[in-house]
Amino acid sequence: MNYDFHFFICTNERPPGNPKGCCKSKNSEALIEVFKKEVAAVGKSQKVRVQKSGCLGVCGSGPSLVVYPEGSWYGKIQPSDVQEIVQSHIQEGKPVERFLIPSK
Ligand code: FES
Repeated sequence: MNYDFHFFICTNERPPGNPKGCCKSKNSEALIEVFKKEVAAVGKSQKVRVQKSGCLGVCGSGPSLVVYPEGSWYGKIQPSDVQEIVQSHIQEGKPVERFLIPSK
């Protein structure tokens, strides 16, 4: 299966008190469902894959995700940001700059 976009959303979990923190404790699992719903709403479920991933190595920017094929790294994403990302990134081909992780 060839996808236009592949979203990997970190749902890694660490024990409470771990200095690195983790995306799961920042509600990243909710993002999976919201992304799937918004992708479906624009009719792209067959063209856009949304799935969980392990730690992406940018824990301080969590909840984090990376979008391929181009490798756009998003950080500190909340469910309320998802509709804008789907509209701009998927529908218009433009990543939402203000959510991109600067060092990536
Ligand atoms: S725990 Fe999510 S990027 Fe490391």
